[in-house]
Amino acid sequence: MIRLSKVTSGFGHLTILRDIDLVLDVGEMVLVLGANGAGKTTLLRTISGLAQVRSGSITFDGQDITGAQPHRLARSGLVHVPQGRQIVPHLTVEENLLIGAQHVPGITARLMTERLEAEYARFPVLKERRHVPGGSLSGGEQQMLAVSRGLMMGPRVLMLDEPSLGLAPQAIHRILVAVEALARQGMSVLMVEQKTSALRFAQRALVLRNGEIVFSGQAKGLSADDELMRHYGGAG
Ligand SMILES: Nc1ncnc2c1ncn2[C@@H]1O[C@H](COP(=O)(O)OP(=O)(O)OP(=O)(O)O)[C@@H](O)[C@H]1O
Ligand SMILES: [Mg+2]
Repeated sequence: MIRLSKVTSGFGHLTILRDIDLVLDVGEMVLVLGANGAGKTTLLRTISGLAQVRSGSITFDGQDITGAQPHRLARSGLVHVPQGRQIVPHLTVEENLLIGAQHVPGITARLMTERLEAEYARFPVLKERRHVPGGSLSGGEQQMLAVSRGLMMGPRVLMLDEPSLGLAPQAIHRILVAVEALARQGMSVLMVEQKTSALRFAQRALVLRNGEIVFSGQAKGLSADDELMRHYGGAG
């Protein structure tokens, strides 16, 4: 679904990522691990058109998307759930969900309603709280809302930037279980994390350090793997 070949990218004159090769297949979950400042967010921003690619190329479903406009990519099914969630605090939960979908080309009122119901089934707490302002939700609920808002766009590729940030283990688990189910249904998921706890949900894992991939391999059973720990040593 997504392929990066020798991508070097950054912001303005600053180069952050170097020589990144990455493949994300249909229905696959790939986890990108790395410490603070390793370049994880920049990687997702590079794929979604929010950073400047200096060299190399990016394809989405076989099409070259290097340098494409972020809003076009989102509408064509490449959805990025940003770090920090970016819920609109004064809009209700339901309004936050609907703004996610309203610009999707060809979307009908009926499809919007179907998707809304699907998200309420995925995270029932969002249905219970659909009339309260997004800003009044707990951190875990806001992350669910951010994931659901992304899913309202009907993505084929879902990119998640540190969904576990600041959440209790129970909330993290609920979100990861939901994301794993999406991948099992055929969605491609690229997830960025500092915590290794997401490893058991992913098929493959990469480790980023100082803007370069220093490790790439199968994710299952990796949390106890000496090689990963040598490269990363991140906290569980
Ligand atoms: N818009 C920007 N302009 C200039 N430099 C940036 C920009 N965004 C990030 N950087 C720099 O790029 C490097 C990588 O940052 P990035 O946000 O990608 O790291 P990260 O792995 O997501 O870290 P964290 O775990 O803290 O979210 C850092 O040195 C950061 O200061
Ligand atoms: Mg980040």
